[in-house]
Amino acid sequence: MDPKHISPLIPPSPEEQSEWERLADELALKNRALAATSEGITITDVSLPDNPIIFANEGFKRLTGYSDAEIIGYNCRFLQGPDTDPQTVAEIRSAIAEERECTVDILNYRKDGSAFWNRLTITPVRDADNKVTHFIGIQSDISERKRAEEALARAKEQLETVNRRMTRDLETAANIQQALLPRQVPAIEGIEIYWTLRPCSELAGDTLNIVSLDETHYGIYILDVSGHGVPAALLSVTLNHWLSPLPAHSSLYKPAANGSGEFSLSTPREVVEKLNARFPMSSHTLQYFTILYGILDTVQREFCFSVAGHPGPMLLPRARQGKALQFPAYPIGFVDHPSYKQHCIKLHPGDRLYMYTDGVVEARNADFEHFGRERLMQEIERSRDVSLRESLVNILASLEEWHGHSDFADDLSLMALEVH
Ligand SMILES: Cc1cc2nc3c(=O)[nH]c(=O)nc-3n(C[C@H](O)[C@H](O)[C@H](O)COP(=O)(O)O)c2cc1C
Repeated sequence: MDPKHISPLIPPSPEEQSEWERLADELALKNRALAATSEGITITDVSLPDNPIIFANEGFKRLTGYSDAEIIGYNCRFLQGPDTDPQTVAEIRSAIAEERECTVDILNYRKDGSAFWNRLTITPVRDADNKVTHFIGIQSDISERKRAEEALARAKEQLETVNRRMTRDLETAANIQQALLPRQVPAIEGIEIYWTLRPCSELAGDTLNIVSLDETHYGIYILDVSGHGVPAALLSVTLNHWLSPLPAHSSLYKPAANGSGEFSLSTPREVVEKLNARFPMSSHTLQYFTILYGILDTVQREFCFSVAGHPGPMLLPRARQGKALQFPAYPIGFVDHPSYKQHCIKLHPGDRLYMYTDGVVEARNADFEHFGRERLMQEIERSRDVSLRESLVNILASLEEWHGHSDFADDLSLMALEVH
């Protein structure tokens, strides 16, 4: 505005007078807005030595506790203190030198010495010639947010530690469980046996074993505990011990009837009944399991077995069509005194017998269709002319192809034997 208009000697025209009033109102509004905001706002003048503050709003004074007299004419660095990160200060310094905007989180100190986290944004202000004349700084107290972030980071760290420990424990548990499986295929004269067990997570609810009961008899079992993971694995490991071949501790034997203190073999039906009496389904865990337990007589070439809620074996006679045997019976623990049956199969040279858990037949494809017993039987038939071991590999491969990927929802177990 022309200086003559502010000379008291020449009174302003009515238009000039009202323009003045409008500008004064606008300025008052801006001042009130600057005073009202909770953010700190500062303006520095680059033309003065050390780029000092020439304006600080009420928010800045409330935030820092300093008065105008302690702020105006000073460089903002007076807010920094012993724990302010020099790296962050250097970042601001280069932004100012390069005349660009920058935002940093910097630890500052109030007049009373208390520290606070300041999210600071500084922006260069340019004149009509694009020359930087001032900087404007906006300061927000983000201490609460920082505290929350730090608490979150600590909680995350703790969670990661617990997670690492749990992963380690799970790996150890998985190794223990693995060690309970038959380490190598037992060498039984005239009989070939192979098995595969693929847990769907670290720990399996499925388990299986072939244990030597005496010179001519082998106990064979395959079982499936309901559910997965740790709870299922705990029960499956307990069952491994219960079905161990140590006469005094195992349910596979019974004290001989003659009272000699010796042990005789429990029949498959007795074993399944003992398990049912010992492992009733708890109303707490609702855990139960299915089992196929059988005794292979290597002299008679006979396999006698009982099933409790478990799929029956699939028999592939050497020169005849395969048969999927099914014997409906309660799983272990469902009812108090179920009547379990015992079945015997005479095995001839070239005959094959396949046992499995329901994870195999209940695996689904992309259309949610089960692999199913029929398809399993077809795969077994299809592998008739390859070795027993290869037949298991083929079955698993077609199961994986059917399923579409190798992450199954349930454990997969398969055991096969062939008479030579
Ligand atoms: C407008 C403006 C506001 C600033 N506000 C703060 C602030 O609130 N806190 C702070 O630690 N530094 C602030 N600074 C940065 C310091 O004033 C100074 O530039 C910084 O410490 C780097 O320079 P030095 O190395 O000379 O100290 C601000 C700078 C400008 C230009």
